[in-house]
Amino acid sequence: MAIRTIVHKGDDILRKKSRSVGEITPKIITLLEDMLETMIESNGAGLAAPQVGVLRRVAIVDDGSGPIELINPVIISQEGLQHEVEGCLSIPGVLGIVERPEHVVVEALDRNGVLQTFEGDGLLARAFCHEIDHLDGILFDEKATSFLTEEEIETLRSEAAEEDL
Ligand code: CO
Repeated sequence: MAIRTIVHKGDDILRKKSRSVGEITPKIITLLEDMLETMIESNGAGLAAPQVGVLRRVAIVDDGSGPIELINPVIISQEGLQHEVEGCLSIPGVLGIVERPEHVVVEALDRNGVLQTFEGDGLLARAFCHEIDHLDGILFDEKATSFLTEEEIETLRSEAAEEDL
């Protein structure tokens, strides 16, 4: 495994739509493993392939209960609303409030090519939505209804209540 460089906002690649994965090749498995290592090293709760410069529909989320690998993820249903703080490893130092569904159901292939269904509430639901947005070239700051001040960010960080996606 290897740590990959995280692309920051301003790089055009983050605005592009990622291509679906056809065959799960060894290259895709390496990508997943590198993304996992990169996400852990960066203390993130999620990471999408375009964030490491690869325009493929691959993402990882981890709400603290263990990593979930997603290949070609699709939100198949959603319910409720939440307005919580989000950040992004590609937009360091920025946190904003984003409206997301409270509950989502996601279908995705696992690394063995088996279709899996995942349900998520709260942070996990936010992470699924945030990462799938990345695969469509959408960054959270476009959807944010407000942004936290530096002082508010400082308070959150001291409470360690925030995680970047
Ligand atoms: Co992000």
